[in-house]
Amino acid sequence: MSEDLITQILAAPDLPALEQLRVAALGKQGSITAMLKSLGSMDSETRAAEAPKVHARREAVSNALAERKQALEGAEMERRLATERVDLTLPVDDRPQGSVHPVSQVMDELAEIFADLGFAVAEGPEIEDQWHNFTALNMPETHPARAMHDTFYVNPRVEGEEPRVLRTHTSPVQIRAMQALGAPLRIIAPGRVYRSDSDATHTPMFHQIEGLVIDRAITLGHLKWTLETFLKAFFERDDVHIRMRPSYFPFTEPSAEVDVGWSIDKGRRVVGGSECWMEVLGSGMVHPRVIAACGLDPDEWQGFAFGTGVDRLAMLKYGMDDLRAFFDGDLRWLKHYGFSFLDVPTLSAGVGA
Ligand code: PHE
Repeated sequence: MSEDLITQILAAPDLPALEQLRVAALGKQGSITAMLKSLGSMDSETRAAEAPKVHARREAVSNALAERKQALEGAEMERRLATERVDLTLPVDDRPQGSVHPVSQVMDELAEIFADLGFAVAEGPEIEDQWHNFTALNMPETHPARAMHDTFYVNPRVEGEEPRVLRTHTSPVQIRAMQALGAPLRIIAPGRVYRSDSDATHTPMFHQIEGLVIDRAITLGHLKWTLETFLKAFFERDDVHIRMRPSYFPFTEPSAEVDVGWSIDKGRRVVGGSECWMEVLGSGMVHPRVIAACGLDPDEWQGFAFGTGVDRLAMLKYGMDDLRAFFDGDLRWLKHYGFSFLDVPTLSAGVGA
């Protein structure tokens, strides 16, 4: 029980050395433990004399151990604070890891083209009520066109409530825009739509873009000019020809399906010319009943509307042939067909990448 022990403790160079000293003093075989044990075999007089010394000693050693431990731990913390660094100034890795999906790219291209023609972008919910998705679009409950849409119905939140649907087209956004903004109006509405259908050219979720113009004295001629101008800008060719075929949609009257001319160039299908025709759009003059359902007077306001598949436009322009790959999330496909996030489409620099 020398003074030396306390000196040694206070000079312990590090925590492991200190721990060794603690075990040597206070451990099972430790020197101080041995002294405490020896008290038991003393006669009571000697014990009365020795016990306070032994306990004081144990206390002094314990205090010294605690004091040194705190000092060493503090020094260790100081050392780490002084030597460890997080360098927040390191430059980020600017190599793009991902890419812009062709659907997003094409939607940006379309927004850019139509912005130049004075169209604003409108949005609506993907879970839609049947009134907006069907009824207001001149498809009453018993209308056969409701069955043609292969609709997904959503379980009602409240029992007895009419089930909502996953919107089957972007046309309900026509209704919402007319209700919210009134007339005159020029909007496009890009977004996801859903139909229970799946094969190489159909996926249960796909993308449409809707166009709607409401104004006074709007004619079919305005529709034709708008579609031609849009398709020429989109395919970046002047020799884009369209053909309008009479068709039927409940919400337009008259209605026209629009074909675009294409030909084979070096074994690939390219838009342009008028050798072959392919349907790309549905369109027509907005039905007076649709205008009235939105609270506008159809004798004062007329308009045209069109709708097309964004995924199909992307396939045609950028040469993909399987729609399902759009939604596989395969990085190799995205690397090949994706676009740089710096390729922002502008009319002046070209809308295509
Ligand atoms: N909503 C129609 C469809 O999904 C397309 C369309 C839109 C047709 C607007 C005419 C006018 O097939």
